[in-house]
Amino acid sequence: MNQSTLGIVKPDAVKTGSLGAILKRLEAGGLTVAGLKMVHLTRELAQGFYAVHRDRPFFDSLTDFMSEGPCVVMVLKGENAIDRWRALMGATDPGQAGEGTIRKDFGQNIERNAVHGSDSPESANFEIAYFFNALELSG
Ligand code: RTP
Ligand code: MG
Repeated sequence: MNQSTLGIVKPDAVKTGSLGAILKRLEAGGLTVAGLKMVHLTRELAQGFYAVHRDRPFFDSLTDFMSEGPCVVMVLKGENAIDRWRALMGATDPGQAGEGTIRKDFGQNIERNAVHGSDSPESANFEIAYFFNALELSG
């Protein structure tokens, strides 16, 4: 099934200059980029994006982190793009992530874990619309 998903290269990975390497991984993994831009989220925009986590103990820390510097948001397309991108990312905690995954190689800890990916078709629809309008999406 051809799908779209929302990926983010988080502020930690942008800061360490890992953007190019991460783009290379996702293209090598069979995904194509249908939209991409750099954004510096405000705290409010980060809170809106991660609203599903608002009752979690890590919410304040997570939204501080996501707004500390620019990140790169992108729409990724491909066969089973949602699961494919999450497989390329690896487990949330880089210490638990498999060999060769992006989080294993570029993540620092369970919060500063380099990348984000939508976890369902519903969240992909919400997250893509959060950052992109139809004019900004091609392919
Ligand atoms: P994401 O949404 O960013 O793709 O990550 P995920 O599905 O693997 O993990 P999720 O449970 O949705 O958590 C969202 C993000 O919150 C941070 N986090 N911190 N301190 C903690 O225990 C903790 N747990 C999660 C991470 O940045 C995680 O990616
Ligand atoms: Mg998640």
